[in-house]
Amino acid sequence: MPRAGRRVRLAPSLLSADFADLAAAIREAEAGGADAFHLDVMDGHFVPNITFGPALVRAVRGRTKLPLDIHLMIDRPARYATAFAEAGGDTIVFHVEAADPVEEAIAAIEATGKAVGAAVRPETPLDALRPFAPRLDQVLVMTVSPGFSGQRFRAEVLPKIREASELRGRLRPGADVSVDGGVTLETAPAAVAEGASFLVCGNSVFARGNVAENLGALRRAAGG
Ligand code: DX5
Ligand code: ZN
Repeated sequence: MPRAGRRVRLAPSLLSADFADLAAAIREAEAGGADAFHLDVMDGHFVPNITFGPALVRAVRGRTKLPLDIHLMIDRPARYATAFAEAGGDTIVFHVEAADPVEEAIAAIEATGKAVGAAVRPETPLDALRPFAPRLDQVLVMTVSPGFSGQRFRAEVLPKIREASELRGRLRPGADVSVDGGVTLETAPAAVAEGASFLVCGNSVFARGNVAENLGALRRAAGG
């Protein structure tokens, strides 16, 4: 279960929203009780898809006071950390599988003064980030292959969510275990049961129905 006294936070992923009307998506998600926004940056190298860069992060920053969780699915996170920090990101999350060494990515994010997150693909063990645990504010466990929203949650990753939450005592104080990919009313309870404290929700918030109602239902599924 999440740590006592702190409820699970919900971070809608804007990748699933209407890019032509992001302001409305942000408004609706805020009104529905979102705790943060998750922004998926893809470079066409680390993953096959291309999404957006710092300019869009800056535009989103202008529309909300909520924390912005920047998920860098790019090969060179160290090179771009400053740009995303200056654009208004609050947590900069890099992948341990990226081309830049983990030490360099962390040092670059630390230099910006922003919170540091380390992400792992579904098939990557936590070993690569363990030595750096005391410098991490977030461990992001991916439950789909990075690149696209709307994929099915991979239940075989649940034990790794548990492992990441067991690492919590060694992470920075207040650190989150984030789960990203295929989080729905059906899968959120299992992720929370394994210790997730931060749930990224794309299609389950934006793909159909009413954003605020979707968030309310996810909130209940995550334990209130
Ligand atoms: C996938 C992204 C996810 C994705 C989540 O590469 O990292 O954040 O947008 O979308 P859903 O919740 O639809 O899987
Ligand atoms: Zn993501």
